[in-house]
Amino acid sequence: MSQSNNIETAARYIQEGKLVAFPTETVYGLGANALDPLAVAKIFELKERPTFDPLIVHISNMEQFARLTPVNDERVYRLAEKFWPGPLTIVLPKSDIVPDLVTSGLPTVGIRMPSNEIARQLITLSDCPIAAPSANKFGRISPTTAAHVRKQLPDVDYILEGGKSSVGIESTIISLTECGFQILRNGIITQEDLEAVLPVDSGSVTEKLAAPGMLKSHYSPRKKLLVADESTALIDKSRAGLISFSGDLDNGFSKIIRVSQHNDLKEYAVNLFEAMHTFEDDPAIDIIIAEPVCEKGIGKAIMDRLRKAEYDWRK
Ligand code: TXA
Ligand code: MG
Repeated sequence: MSQSNNIETAARYIQEGKLVAFPTETVYGLGANALDPLAVAKIFELKERPTFDPLIVHISNMEQFARLTPVNDERVYRLAEKFWPGPLTIVLPKSDIVPDLVTSGLPTVGIRMPSNEIARQLITLSDCPIAAPSANKFGRISPTTAAHVRKQLPDVDYILEGGKSSVGIESTIISLTECGFQILRNGIITQEDLEAVLPVDSGSVTEKLAAPGMLKSHYSPRKKLLVADESTALIDKSRAGLISFSGDLDNGFSKIIRVSQHNDLKEYAVNLFEAMHTFEDDPAIDIIIAEPVCEKGIGKAIMDRLRKAEYDWRK
């Protein structure tokens, strides 16, 4: 594995069918040429990811977009106008050039144009769309720094440095229906943000669309993590780390990471995965407690990540 901030070298690796971990505004991605099935297969292998979980394809311009999908829907261009480049993934019917491995055999493909400059330059220099899941082992905590990638994927061919991700949680994923959009995964772009462009289709998301990769357990630290509730008062706090948002729960914990100084949910999103990584790596901590927030707006995305992180520990 080599690591630096040489985008040309990283792009050459992509062209040679190798894997490159790279920064995006949401989380670091583990990238390969999306049109090369052999390169894409290496992503599943290194991540130990089941092949039923489809990958998002990253683009840097709308010409690439037009090659990935036959859809020419003015609603997509309105969404792109407002939210691209940025943390929004749109699921659309795929064209034939997209390998089945990328979409797990689905007839649709998830497409996103990241706002991170390094990510877009990498795509442009590689001269191909880049398929990339988050650059963590399957089911574990997503990386928001290059160090997090190195911890979980030391064998990746190249890690492109880009500092800490500015959003901190994965993109909002939507699909389009006849009457509007449906949210498949919550993120920093909220339903309310999207409604400024298109109406929400409040019909239930079909099982088939929601199913791929949307597992109940995910983002899981190797240490017990629980979302704070009435029973938190009873736990031994001497080896407990608190992920604190408001400060209201801070009493008694041996270590506290305050994820927001200004009661700002965006700050919680930016710092959430990093806080989980820090406590996971801290030998003085046996249990992580995370402060819940109201499930509105960005709070929906944060609670989705927290519920998935605690799922295996609650069983
Ligand atoms: O912010 C992000 O989206 C990051 C960065 C690297 O761009 N990527 C990311 O990828 O979160 P990943 O693999 O961790 O999550 C991709 C999820 C899949 O688990 C699946 O739920 C959904 O995207 N997805 C991808 N293609 C889909 C499709 N055709 N239909 C429905 N869901 C799809
Ligand atoms: Mg992921």
